[in-house]
Amino acid sequence: MTHAKLTSLMARGAEFLGCETAILCGAMSWVSERNLVAAISNAGGFGVIACGAMTPELLDKEIAATKALTDKPFGVNLITMHPQLFDLIDVCARHDVGHVVLAGGLPPKGSIEAIKQKGAKLICFAPALSLAKKLVRSGVDALVVEGMEAGGHIGPVSTSVLAQEILPDMANQLPVFVAGGIGRGEAIAAYLEMGAAGVQLGTRFACATESIAHSNFKKAFFRASARDAIASVQIDARLPVIPVRALKNAGTESFTAKQREVANLLDGGTIEMMEAQLQIEHYWAGALRRAVIDGDVEGGSLMAGQSVGMVTKEEPVADIIAQLVEQAAEALARRTA
Ligand SMILES: Cc1cc2nc3c(=O)[nH]c(=O)nc-3n(C[C@H](O)[C@H](O)[C@H](O)COP(=O)(O)O)c2cc1C
Repeated sequence: MTHAKLTSLMARGAEFLGCETAILCGAMSWVSERNLVAAISNAGGFGVIACGAMTPELLDKEIAATKALTDKPFGVNLITMHPQLFDLIDVCARHDVGHVVLAGGLPPKGSIEAIKQKGAKLICFAPALSLAKKLVRSGVDALVVEGMEAGGHIGPVSTSVLAQEILPDMANQLPVFVAGGIGRGEAIAAYLEMGAAGVQLGTRFACATESIAHSNFKKAFFRASARDAIASVQIDARLPVIPVRALKNAGTESFTAKQREVANLLDGGTIEMMEAQLQIEHYWAGALRRAVIDGDVEGGSLMAGQSVGMVTKEEPVADIIAQLVEQAAEALARRTA
C-alpha cells in the first residue's frame, strides 16, 4: 500500500510536531504518564504527558522519566486552572519541552507569553470558530478542534460540525488537529482531506499494552459499546459544570450527589463559584484515579469517548498506529484509484 498521499497530507502536522506520523495521543489524566507517552513517541506518533493536578515537583520527575524512555519529541498538557500554572510552565522550560498544550479554558493572562518566550510551541483547544480566531490573534501556534464524541471533559458540538466550521477558515493559517470520536484510519483520511494537519486520539490508546491503566479499567473498555459512553448531566442551573463523557456506572450517580452537595455549599454561602468548580474538578480527578489506578470500575470514573466500541483488545501502541496509518492510506488510495 502506497503511503505517499497520507505522508503528504500529514507533512505539515508531522513537521510541526517533529514526529513521523501526525497522530497525537491526547493527554489523559493518570493514563498519559511516562510509559504510554514514550511508547507513542517511539512509535512515530506524538505523546503528551497529562499534568492534571500534579505539583511542579511531580511534573519535573515525570518529564525526566519520559526523557529516559524516549529521545523523540513529546508534549506536556497543562490545565489552565491549576493554581501553580506558571511554575509548571517553568518546569517545562527547564526541560526544553518543545510543545505545551493548554487545556481547560482560555489561556490566563501572561501564560501565552510565558510559554512562548522560552521557545516552546503552544497548542490550544478551539471550541468555536470565534474562539479559534481569538486564539490565533493571541499568538497560539496550533489548534485542537475537539468534538463532544470525545472522552473526558467535552463541549456541546460534534467533531464533524466543528471540523466543517473551523477547518475552512483556519487550516491555511496554522496547523489544526481534529479530535473526538476517531477510532479508525478512514476518519483520519477524511479530516486530513478537509484540511486538518493531523488528528488527536485518546480512547483508542487508553488500553494499549503500554498503558498502565488497571486491567479492570481496560476490560470495561473492551466490553463497552458507543452508547455506554455518556455525558454527565448538570443538575443545578446555578452550578455550571463542564460535562464529562464516561462509561455509565455507579460513579455516574455519585456525581449527581456531589453536584447537590456542592450546590448546597454555594447556596449556604460557604464557598464561592470558583471554589465550587474546583471541588467538582477535584472530584473527577479522584474518581478517574480510582478507576485507572485502583481498578474501581464501579465507583470510579471510566472516562471514555464514543469510539470505545472500536477498542476491543489490548494491543501495543505501534500496532494501533500501524493499523490507523494503513486504514487511512487505503482510504486515500481508493479515492484516487
Ligand atoms: C480517560 C481520559 C482522560 C482524559 N484526560 C484529559 C486531560 O487530563 N486533559 C485533556 O486535555 N484531555 C483529556 N482527555 C481528552 C483526550 O486528551 C483526547 O483529546 C480525547 O480522548 C480525544 O477524543 P477520543 O477519546 O474520542 O479519542 C481525556 C480523555 C480520556 C479518555
